[in-house]
Amino acid sequence: MTATQTDEFTGKVGRLNKLSVERHFDAYADIDWDDSKFALDVNAPRLELPVIDPLRHTDWYAAQPPEVRAAVGCHRWAACMKTGWHFENLLQRGLLRHTFSLPNGAPEFRYLHHEIIEESQHTLMFQEFVNRTGLPVKGMPWRIKRSAELFVIPLSKRFPALFFLFVLGGEEPVDHLQRRLLRDGGLHPLAERIIRIHVAEEARHVSFARHYLTTEVPKLGPVRRFMLGVEAPIFLGIMARLMLMPSPHMLRKNGVPKSVVREAWRSPEGRTLLRDSVAKVRSLWEELGLVNAVNRPIWRLMGIG
Ligand SMILES: [Fe+2]
Ligand SMILES: [Fe+2]
Repeated sequence: MTATQTDEFTGKVGRLNKLSVERHFDAYADIDWDDSKFALDVNAPRLELPVIDPLRHTDWYAAQPPEVRAAVGCHRWAACMKTGWHFENLLQRGLLRHTFSLPNGAPEFRYLHHEIIEESQHTLMFQEFVNRTGLPVKGMPWRIKRSAELFVIPLSKRFPALFFLFVLGGEEPVDHLQRRLLRDGGLHPLAERIIRIHVAEEARHVSFARHYLTTEVPKLGPVRRFMLGVEAPIFLGIMARLMLMPSPHMLRKNGVPKSVVREAWRSPEGRTLLRDSVAKVRSLWEELGLVNAVNRPIWRLMGIG
């Protein structure tokens, strides 16, 4: 890293450190779980699928009685929260591994620990929500969990740039979804409180990953740049689907036909949501000169080009 790059990176990380101290949340001090307005009645209409969810606009969903619509929505919220903290757990383990080998004085050491701590608070609030629904949600499918443990966590040491792409692959689609949910409104008060806290802190995490990649990618050799170019659309296509689409377990438990989900996500709205959810990462990849004639077809093939 040149002296200028080091100064710039240190300055950005310093600002994130300051913000992390000034504005952070505690899963139990900042959410009054026993407030009656936060009570989770699994039949509450406000737990119905939100407007942004393509499944909500299917004939199948419209034909269900209100209590079934609310039950499907509640299961969807809980499953998303569990998948969310499974992702955060993998992320934390990767970040811990990354900080484990940082030298004294590394500018990112302190910030990454702020991030790890915040992800723990998010995990606590997501799991508390799941517990209060009483639903048997499973989160990420076990094959994905196992593959991520075996192949993604070690990247944080062997190929950190690819690991931080994984970070953005999970955080950007969720951030996109949550901002839309807040804009559309009409959410259950507990879900809204959790999302507001999460959006505020995730903005810093996304910002760090982008600064890291902007600083580190230009220093990589042609082989690693080629790998980042080819792997990004594959990683992002898988991650966006994992974070946004309903899990097979949730669909089975609620008797949602697979054809209905396929129809919903193949609709123009479903395709746009998927593409838009990773549009910022794609722009970053363009800025870094990593999108080219070789990998452009992969972006299109994954439905995010
Ligand atoms: Fe988080
Ligand atoms: Fe995060």
